[in-house]
Amino acid sequence: MSKGINTQAVLAMRGAGYYSERTAGARNVINDAGVMVIDALAQALQTKTLRIADYGAADGGTSREMWDMVIGQLRATGDHRQIEMLYTDLASNDFSTLFRMMQGMQGDPAIAYQSRYENVFVHGCGTGFHQQLMADASLNLGFSATAMHYVSTKPLEIPEHVHAARADPQSQTAYARQAAQDWENILLARAAELIPGGRFICLNFGIDEQGRYLGNTGGHHMFDHFHKFWLALYQDGSITSDEYQRASFAQYYRTIDEFCAPFNDAESVVSKAGLKLKSCHSKLTKCPYEQAFLDAGGVGGSMSNLDYANSLIPTMRSWSETVFRTALDGRKADEAAQIVDRFYTAYRDAVAADPTGHAMDYVHIVLDIEKAG
Ligand SMILES: C[S@@+](CC[C@H](N)C(=O)[O-])C[C@H]1O[C@@H](n2cnc3c(N)ncnc32)[C@H](O)[C@@H]1O
Repeated sequence: MSKGINTQAVLAMRGAGYYSERTAGARNVINDAGVMVIDALAQALQTKTLRIADYGAADGGTSREMWDMVIGQLRATGDHRQIEMLYTDLASNDFSTLFRMMQGMQGDPAIAYQSRYENVFVHGCGTGFHQQLMADASLNLGFSATAMHYVSTKPLEIPEHVHAARADPQSQTAYARQAAQDWENILLARAAELIPGGRFICLNFGIDEQGRYLGNTGGHHMFDHFHKFWLALYQDGSITSDEYQRASFAQYYRTIDEFCAPFNDAESVVSKAGLKLKSCHSKLTKCPYEQAFLDAGGVGGSMSNLDYANSLIPTMRSWSETVFRTALDGRKADEAAQIVDRFYTAYRDAVAADPTGHAMDYVHIVLDIEKAG
């Protein structure tokens, strides 16, 4: 048994489509990777059928347009192979919304590829991606976006902050060790699943060459704000010391060196399992909500500060709310909901009072990995 803190309950994105409807940035990042995916499929072994996996797909809404484009391109170039699409996430994920989206029962039916194209079979897998999820040598292409920064176990609750990226050195070391072990497990599992010549393309939150990461790209620091408003609830007596302590994100942003380490050592278990790194680069994606505000003229323009704040906070809330809500486990649901609402309202009000420097830019480390042929 692991000595860490189980993370399954604190990870779920908000369900019923809330996540993908409010995460335009994540969708843009995935759409930009479509060309890489098409290239990888063109270069991979032409097996009789094609199996593709999307790891940590949430409700599937953010990658749907990209998969529709990829499948459309395959069909347009005369590739009519049967395609098995395997969506993976945790057991707590809202797979029902995902299946509805692919069948055109929710969201834009124009990109519901399962009903648009023949011979495309959609499956779901509710087991975490740190384990092997399918039979040996059966996967042509693995893909994952914005998911593998989640650690399998929280090694500890971070004292006096909410995120490992801003934690004290001892906590940072504990999270770094956990993340290194998790990365190795992720890679070994994919090495087993991939066919020879198969590819694994992952776009992971991480720290770029300039030390930037999600919500820390030059303006206000998003995680410092999360901590500030959570601490304020403790200081005014709204939450207990335990509740204040329990709100640590089960996340670690790896550096480029940390991502590449298993590939740079020919003797590592990952290299010996046959995985090679074809390319790795960092990518900054500007916050689309801030962009829309700036396009409207910024402060004093046609979008009010409050409207901007009301568009920005839900995108943060879609993935972070679960952390604060589970820190309040033990309270009645409506009481916990009220506290969480006050928390995000405080952040919203701060943005509305002075929006300058508030945004959620994405920083990804993009890796293209190949299983030896
Ligand atoms: C921020 S969302 C990203 C969703 C989608 N891939 C995107 O880019 O918009 C992260 C997803 O990873 C999932 N996740 C976290 N840890 C996981 C694990 N160990 N195994 C599978 N999925 C996991 C979460 O449940 C969540 O749905």
